[in-house]
Amino acid sequence: MPVTITSSNALYTDLSGYYDLMCADIDYQAQSTYVRRLHQLFGNEGKRHLDLACGTGPHIRHLVDNGYQSQGLDLNQPMLDQAKLRCPEASFIQQDMCGFTVESKLDLITCFLYSIHYSGDIEKLKGCIASAHSALRDGGMFCFNVVEKNMIDNRSFVRHSAQHDGEDFVFASGWHYPGDGERQSLKLSIEKHNGDETLRWIDEHPMVAVSFEQMRQLLSPYFDVYMFDHDYEKIIPLNNTSGNAFFACVKRGSTELAGQGLAA
Ligand SMILES: C[S@@+](CC[C@H](N)C(=O)[O-])C[C@H]1O[C@@H](n2cnc3c(N)ncnc32)[C@H](O)[C@@H]1O
Repeated sequence: MPVTITSSNALYTDLSGYYDLMCADIDYQAQSTYVRRLHQLFGNEGKRHLDLACGTGPHIRHLVDNGYQSQGLDLNQPMLDQAKLRCPEASFIQQDMCGFTVESKLDLITCFLYSIHYSGDIEKLKGCIASAHSALRDGGMFCFNVVEKNMIDNRSFVRHSAQHDGEDFVFASGWHYPGDGERQSLKLSIEKHNGDETLRWIDEHPMVAVSFEQMRQLLSPYFDVYMFDHDYEKIIPLNNTSGNAFFACVKRGSTELAGQGLAA
C-alpha cells in the first residue's frame, strides 16, 4: 500500500529537488527562443529581463546565454536556491508576483508554464499586472501563457515517468475547474517507488481561473495586447480553438496612459 501525503505545495518546497525531473520533457530552449523572437518583433531593444515564478531557472539560463541580463523572482526559496546554482550570473528575489517591486526598470518580463495563474484570484491577478506594468520601461514587454477556464477538461491528466538515483518516479498533473467562478486548481501527484516502498504526494494548488477575453480586458488599459496560438515553433494569431494561448503585452507610453486618465 502506498503511503499518501497530501499537501498544498510540497513540489516547490520539500520536493523541489524533484522539480526538474518532473519537467524533463519540457523544451525550455524552444520556449525561450519563442519569447526572444516575440521580443525582437514587438519589444524595445533592451535586455533587462525578469522571470516571474522562475522556479529552478531554466528559462533564465537560456536568456542569459543569449545576452539578457536576467533576474528571477519566486515565492519559494528552495526553488530560488536551485535557480542560483543553475544561473550564478543572475540575481534572484523572493517576492510574491502579485505585488512586486524592482530596483530598476525592465525591458522584458516573462512568466512561463501558466504560472501567472498562481495569482490565485482576480484581485491578486490585477496586482500582478499592475506590478509588471510599473516595473517595465515604456515599450517593454510582458509575456506569459494562459489556460482558458471554459476549455479545461477536468478528466485530462499529463503523466510521465522517470528514474533518478535508482528510484522510479511517476508524475501526473491536470487542471480542475468547477464550472463557474474565478478559481481553478492544478492537481499534481508524485509517486516514488523504491523496492516495496511507494510514497505518493498529492498537491492541490489554488489558481485563478480566467477566460482569454477576461485576461485581455484586464491587460488592455495598460498594454497593447497580442494573443497567439500556443505553438512555440510558429508565431500565429490565436484561432480560439485551443484552450491555451500565449500573451505578449507591450507597455503603453506614460503620455498615452495619462491621456486615458490612468497613472503610468
Ligand atoms: C510550475 S512552476 C514554474 C517554474 C518555471 N517558471 C518553469 O517554467 O519551470 C511555478 C512556480 O511558481 C512559484 N510561485 C507560486 N506562487 C507564486 C507567487 N505568488 N509569486 C511568485 N512565485 C510563485 C512556485 O514557487 C514555482 O516555482
